Amino acid sequence: MSSTVEPVSGYPTIPKDPTAGPFNMASYDDLYQNFQWEDMAKALNLPRANGINKASICIDDHSPEVMQRTALLWQAADGKKESYTFDDLRRETNRFANVLTELGVKKGDRVFVYLDRIPEIFITLFGALKVGAVIGPLFSAFGPEAIRDRLEDSGAVLVVTSPELKERLDSIRGELPALQHVVIVDRKGSAVEPLHPHEVSYAAMMAKASDQFTVPYTDPDDFSIIHYTSGTTGKPKGAVHRHAAIIAQAATAKYILDLQPENDIYWCTADPGWVTGTSYGMFGPWALGATVLVYEGGFKAEDWYQLIQDYKVTVWYTAPTAIRMLMKAGEAVAKAYDFSSLRHLCSVGEPLNPEAVVWGHQVFGHVFHDTWWQTETGAMHICNYPCMDVKPGSMGKPFPGVVAGILDDEWNPLPAGEEGHLAVRPQAPSIFRNYWKRDEVYQSRFKNGWYITGDRARMDADGYYWFIGRADDVINTAGHLVGPFEVESALIEHPAVAEAGVIGKPDPERLEIVKAFISLKAGFEPSETLKQEIKNFVRTRLAAHAYPREIDFLPSLPKTRSGKIMRRLLKARELGLPEGDTSTLED
Ligand code: WT7
Repeated sequence: MSSTVEPVSGYPTIPKDPTAGPFNMASYDDLYQNFQWEDMAKALNLPRANGINKASICIDDHSPEVMQRTALLWQAADGKKESYTFDDLRRETNRFANVLTELGVKKGDRVFVYLDRIPEIFITLFGALKVGAVIGPLFSAFGPEAIRDRLEDSGAVLVVTSPELKERLDSIRGELPALQHVVIVDRKGSAVEPLHPHEVSYAAMMAKASDQFTVPYTDPDDFSIIHYTSGTTGKPKGAVHRHAAIIAQAATAKYILDLQPENDIYWCTADPGWVTGTSYGMFGPWALGATVLVYEGGFKAEDWYQLIQDYKVTVWYTAPTAIRMLMKAGEAVAKAYDFSSLRHLCSVGEPLNPEAVVWGHQVFGHVFHDTWWQTETGAMHICNYPCMDVKPGSMGKPFPGVVAGILDDEWNPLPAGEEGHLAVRPQAPSIFRNYWKRDEVYQSRFKNGWYITGDRARMDADGYYWFIGRADDVINTAGHLVGPFEVESALIEHPAVAEAGVIGKPDPERLEIVKAFISLKAGFEPSETLKQEIKNFVRTRLAAHAYPREIDFLPSLPKTRSGKIMRRLLKARELGLPEGDTSTLED
């Protein structure tokens, strides 16, 4: 542990990209030393007369020229295309702000949006920000259990959804006393039944609403968004961010994504249900006035390549699992497309294998720049910059304005080369301000003035950071964090399941898959059919990405004497590793 051996991936350093744009930092060290968050705020012309409302900054307050620029290029799963200028979004979000006002939504109320990746996600989220509501995006692959946990915990008063997704909401409607309104966005005209009393039609309300709205004063510390994130224990916690987070999101979109708004077509492949899809799918790029491409459809190598070619995408922010899936599709597929528009590539969510960096360089002519951050940090924190030589396999260096450290178990900094807890000083304007109604858990994440990230890492002698793994049981499957407790809770609701223990099992494509160990109630026999049934149960109730892809039936699960299922032991046995300390194991 105390060796100072350089953590190298075995791959040679790739020199910085000569095509990096004018925002390219001349020297990392210069910028690191001289960067001030206040300067970035000034560059965004902050604070303004109405304070610091994210929606005004992203949508309304651009120059007349930028207001006519395309903000959103949208392609539906069926190929249909739409495009919206900043001015179009200004008017639509004003309308929705008026709709919310008419429905009685007030500053501080929680407004959730549960939609597929369609333009109304952005219109309703920004409309809600304009009235001062705290927004909560919900990933459309969530099942009733996952949305109940989030809507109940946050006390959401209003949900925007579609006729297709509404069924899942209807099944838990009775458990949500705070929920007053459901706004139905019916793109397909499929809402055949008359609307229920608490439901209103988006189209009908928008048609009546004025496109004029004055955004009220918004304080930098006012809450803007809640993103639920999974931990080791308990249900997902709502990480809350303030409006001032936009300063960090814009700064990183400028210096790390290297966005040049007048020229770029920027594609972020993440869904706004996750923090990447908000911080960099909308906030950062729109604060700079950049054009964002949104694709409703899912992953398919050919479709993704076609989009890059058709829209002449210049800057692309995606995830290691997607890159590995593209690698798997093969270079022959890639060769059929024209990628000459691409200028800068970035990645986030999981460790980016050095192979993927090298492969990207060969196929696209540019390296993927890995970025490290979390829901809690709200913006990129440790990154590879356009102006930096890339060490394949490293997450890069701290963003200027961010102090990072590797700490020992007493929360003191360790020297270069040693493995420890990855921590950051909570200085960036985007750092989370609480877990909703979980202040104690929030406080527990800070030690000695550091925010403890829950990851383990190492810094080399050049100041590059290298990811080692999670310090906890949280599973990272294809870039999505899944809490074992959530999956275990969903599993034991199945009538056949007596006990369940859930671990992350290493997987070449998805980094980890969710694996469940289950003991059955008396009267149930293990079978392939039952396995399938249990998988489907979790898939539809919890979330399509969080169900156990593998299930093993065991006569009983290893537990501590106090009755806690020992996930660590299940994992060690699964991987054939030493079982470690089993002194607390029950007889
Ligand atoms: C966790 C945060 C913030 C973007 C989406 C994920 C892992 C994130 C990297 C990276 C290795 C990474 C960490 C982190 N992670 N980026 N570049 N290399 N691991 O947000 O769901 O809050 O997950 O994802 O374990 O703590 P999130």
